[in-house]
Amino acid sequence: WVRMVTAQTPTNIAVIKYWGKRDETLILPVNDSISVTLDPAHLCTTTTVAVSPSFDQDRMWLNGKEISLAGGRFQSCLKEIRSRACDVEDEEKGIKIAKKDWENLHLHIASYNNFPTAAGLASSAAGFACLVFALAKLMNAKEDQSQLSAIARQGSGSACRSLYGGFVKWIMGKDEDGRDSLAVQLADEKHWDDLVIIIAVVSSRQKETSSTSGMRETVETSLLLKHRAKEIVPKRIVQMEEAIKNRDFASFAQLTCTDSNQFHAVCLDTSPPIFYMNDTSHRIISVVEKWNRSEGVPQVAYTFDAGPNAVMIARDRKAASLLLRRLLFHFPPNADTDLNSYIIGDKSI
Ligand code: DP6
Repeated sequence: WVRMVTAQTPTNIAVIKYWGKRDETLILPVNDSISVTLDPAHLCTTTTVAVSPSFDQDRMWLNGKEISLAGGRFQSCLKEIRSRACDVEDEEKGIKIAKKDWENLHLHIASYNNFPTAAGLASSAAGFACLVFALAKLMNAKEDQSQLSAIARQGSGSACRSLYGGFVKWIMGKDEDGRDSLAVQLADEKHWDDLVIIIAVVSSRQKETSSTSGMRETVETSLLLKHRAKEIVPKRIVQMEEAIKNRDFASFAQLTCTDSNQFHAVCLDTSPPIFYMNDTSHRIISVVEKWNRSEGVPQVAYTFDAGPNAVMIARDRKAASLLLRRLLFHFPPNADTDLNSYIIGDKSI
């Protein structure tokens, strides 16, 4: 017999960034962060996990290619879920797995991203969230979403925020064992459904500095990060929660853009400096900033993760279509920029 579970999880984009760990093994951050979960139709991971007595080892395929499972992060997630596995009974298929059997059963896992892996589009976020969710279902682990988020966090920090739709906060927590470092939903997907997200795929190439090694170097060398984590982010988190609660787009956009720019400033303050944005990213920022200023009230927020791709959040459909017109004017197809496509989607699941 084979027991299979398939899950689909969207990625999330931080509007107040996570950058820097206080514990590398447990993946505990130096500050809280807030994100918005995207529409699964556009950027998501689909993962099927299967268990069978005929499997003689754990194996995993990512986008059709077999990958090694030796990494500590995958093993941490698997160990956590296995320790919470329960009895499973599927009468229809004649499958009966006792709690104690899970230790000796092996898994086959197939995962697909509908967007470029490791191009700064938070593929690890959707990937680990989906894996943990699917494994929990397969093994009948009865954890709630927040507890699962603390497990997904051990795969990739940002993954903990993808267990919920809408607006999500990753609370950094205080405990040394990380049990209180988990995600909570601030507002569901219906709360602010005017927002429209446009992603300009400036480059789908693999980034040069991974988030993991980039943030390690920042923690080791940047004084600006210490100031950011202690003095700036705590206040910004309160302001962002307020902006989301009141659907106050002007504050939301101001905080989102400022926080993205500070994250990239912290990357520049790292030794040696890390450059995630490129000339095209900078030009996109100028276009949006100029437009927002000329309108008097912000129409669009921008944010960039560990790569040059721009994630723009328009206040409504009208602003989104005007933004797209502007972008196509400044970055026409086949022009001499590395911008190659746009992904347009609703905000969340
Ligand atoms: C810039 O979650 O990819 O996207 O925890 O080492 O796996 P690890 O890092 P990761 O870092 C994401 C950083 C970011 C900002 C964010 O998503 O908050």
